[in-house]
Amino acid sequence: MIAVESVSKSFDGGASFAVRAVSLRVPARAFVAIVGDSGSGKTTLLKTINRLIEPQQGEVIIDEEPVRTVAPHALRRRIGYVFQGIGLFPHMSIAENIGITPRLIGWPEPKIRARVEELIDLVALPRSYLARLPAELSGGQRQRVGIARALAARPHIMLMDEPFGALDPVTRDALGAEYRRLHESMRLTTLMVTHDILEAVLLADRIVVMRAGAIVADGEPRALLSGHPDPQVRTLMDMPRRQAERVRALLEERARE
Ligand SMILES: Nc1ncnc2c1ncn2[C@@H]1O[C@H](COP(=O)(O)OP(=O)(O)O)[C@@H](O)[C@H]1O
Ligand SMILES: [Mg+2]
Repeated sequence: MIAVESVSKSFDGGASFAVRAVSLRVPARAFVAIVGDSGSGKTTLLKTINRLIEPQQGEVIIDEEPVRTVAPHALRRRIGYVFQGIGLFPHMSIAENIGITPRLIGWPEPKIRARVEELIDLVALPRSYLARLPAELSGGQRQRVGIARALAARPHIMLMDEPFGALDPVTRDALGAEYRRLHESMRLTTLMVTHDILEAVLLADRIVVMRAGAIVADGEPRALLSGHPDPQVRTLMDMPRRQAERVRALLEERARE
C-alpha cells in the first residue's frame, strides 16, 4: 500500500509548484495510470515515491513506513523504476544493465547471472542479446530490457514513466498487454505515467488525471468514460470513446455492404 499524503514540491523556492498538496492512496496490487498534460507534475509525483525527489511538504508512506526513513538501497529493492526515455546505460551490455540494481545492493555474482537469465527469458528476448549493447537493439527490445532491469531485485512496486512512449503503436500495444500479465503474475502494484489515454483505459484499473500539479480526477476507467464534472477531463475521456465509436460504425458499415 502506497500513501502519498499532501505532498508538495517546488523547484523555484515556492514561486511555483510542480506538485501541490497531492494525496493519493494506492492499495497493494492495484494498476494505476497517471495521465495529464506535459508539465502537470506526473514525473515529479512518481519520483517522490522512490525518493529521487524529496518533497518540501507532505510524506510518502509505503506499508506503514515513511519512505524518508528508508535507506535508498532498501527502497530500490522494493520499488522498480522504468525511466521516461528508457535510460539504459549505453556503454554497458544488456546483462550489465539488467543486473545493475542487484549488483548495487550486493548480490553475489552467480545469483546475479542467474537472475539476469531468468529476466531476459521473462521479457521474451533471446539470451544471445545479453552480450549486446543497447544501441544494437530496437526501441521495443530496449524497452523490454528497461522492464527487466526494473524487475531485477524482485520489487513489489513498479513505477513506470511513459514506458511505451517512444514505441510504434503495434509494439506498444503488445508490450502493454504483456506487462499487464506480468503485473498480475508477479502480484505487483503498478503506477504508470502515460500520455496515451487509450492505453490508460485499456491497461489500468484506475486513472488519475493531473493538471498543474494537482489531481483533478481519480476513478475507474469505466466511471471516467461515462462522465465527469470537470470539462477538461470530459474532453480527455471523450477521445477514446469517440475513436471506439467511429471504429465500430466503420465496421458496421462494412458489414452492411
Ligand atoms: N529538476 C527540475 N528543475 C526545475 N523544474 C523542474 C524540474 N523537474 C520538473 N520541473 C518542473 O516541474 C513541473 C512538472 O514537471 P514534471 O513533473 O516533469 O511534469 P510531467 O512529467 O507531467 O511532464 C514543470 O513545470 C517542470 O518544468
Ligand atoms: Mg514526465
